[in-house]
Amino acid sequence: MTGSGTHAVRAGSEAAHGHRPVAVPIHQTAAYEFDSWEQAREVFALRQTGDVYSRTGNPTQLVLEQRLAALDDGVAALATGSGQSAVVVALLALARSGEHLVASSTLYGGTMDLLTDTFTDFGIESTLVDPLDLEAWAAAIRPTTRALFVESVGNPTASIPDLESLAEIAHRAGVPLVVDNTVATAALLKPKDHGADIVVYSATKHLGGHGGSLAGAIVDLGTFDFGAEPARWPQFTQPYPRVGDVVLWERFGRESSALLVYARTKLVHDLGPSLSPFNARDILLGIETLEVRLARISTTTQTVVDALLEHPAVTRVHHPLAERGAARTRAEHYLPRGWPGVLSFDVVDPALVPAVVDGLRLFTLAANIGDVRSLVIHPATTTHSHFTEAQLTQGGFSAATIRLSVGLENPEDLVADLSATLDAASTAVSAANQNISRQKVGQP
Ligand SMILES: Cc1ncc(COP(=O)(O)O)c(C=O)c1O
Repeated sequence: MTGSGTHAVRAGSEAAHGHRPVAVPIHQTAAYEFDSWEQAREVFALRQTGDVYSRTGNPTQLVLEQRLAALDDGVAALATGSGQSAVVVALLALARSGEHLVASSTLYGGTMDLLTDTFTDFGIESTLVDPLDLEAWAAAIRPTTRALFVESVGNPTASIPDLESLAEIAHRAGVPLVVDNTVATAALLKPKDHGADIVVYSATKHLGGHGGSLAGAIVDLGTFDFGAEPARWPQFTQPYPRVGDVVLWERFGRESSALLVYARTKLVHDLGPSLSPFNARDILLGIETLEVRLARISTTTQTVVDALLEHPAVTRVHHPLAERGAARTRAEHYLPRGWPGVLSFDVVDPALVPAVVDGLRLFTLAANIGDVRSLVIHPATTTHSHFTEAQLTQGGFSAATIRLSVGLENPEDLVADLSATLDAASTAVSAANQNISRQKVGQP
């Protein structure tokens, strides 16, 4: 007779096996049963693949990774618990203590904090340069530089860097170009087509698309040859002691991504920024509608940018659609499939900002982008609040800049909301200014 304690943990388990579900199931389990002692040993020695423990992966996450690798035409992907951890893991796989990175000065605030603060604590230095100043990128490279890092659509001004020239500069220096493609996603821009080697994502944004789950990913495009200068990359080209002195570059090379084997078995394993199976499934659902969402967001963004450009309270719109000359030509070259849904605009007087941000009904005030709902934020007092005046100027924005992330609402509703809010804010601020000047005139 089997006891009820045994039944409570064993009975019925077999019924979970052997189904052929159409939607990707959530494999909510911490660990996986090995077939045998021998299989367990082979998997741990990296001689066989297999599910082990959900810190370093699970079948739901594997579907997400294969889907992301396919979307970017990469050789492999590694999903993590947040975009932030994807950036951390990708860069730690390349640069170690005493080494150096060159990065754009217009990055997401969290990445800026990582590069200028936490990585400095770890002994990894970064030089930040104007993403459009190619000479500055080349001049910043040192013998210890291990990667160039840029966002394909800058934050918060949606500037578009010249990825092809940056890839050339990186490759001349013998290092990979790492591109954060969060805002564009592979639906709008494929970094591989422009010479990039590694792509990182905050999947929390457009990939997931519904603002429900944090997730991140690294995609290895399989283009960078870590074997060309082996002394520069000992982590891949020297024996890897934790798995029987395997040389990762010899065992996995580009095709099976030595880079991501190292990132998964060392960095994710040791640091633990794992993706939950539930969140992996949430992001997968989002990806299924990525192209249709971004097509709609792209056309709506065009309508929103046009309306903002015409409004008297707006002095500048930061978006490729508002650019002319070389910047516009560059944007058309890199974004032939649609316009990114993140933009910002400057109001005529920073005093308008609170009334605009609080007045909007269809733009939710939230520190996020890439949701089905339109969002608004004031970068200078939130996401970039610890930036100095000089850093704000270097990033191309100011205290008068408001960022929008366009969602799936009807374009005419969004434009009506923006116009009414900007009108009301302008009226309120000019009435307040008149009051102040009347008081001043009345002063003795
Ligand atoms: C461009 C970009 N990269 C990375 C991140 C970090 O991603 P997460 O918030 O998923 O950790 C963000 C977050 O806003 C982002 O906008």
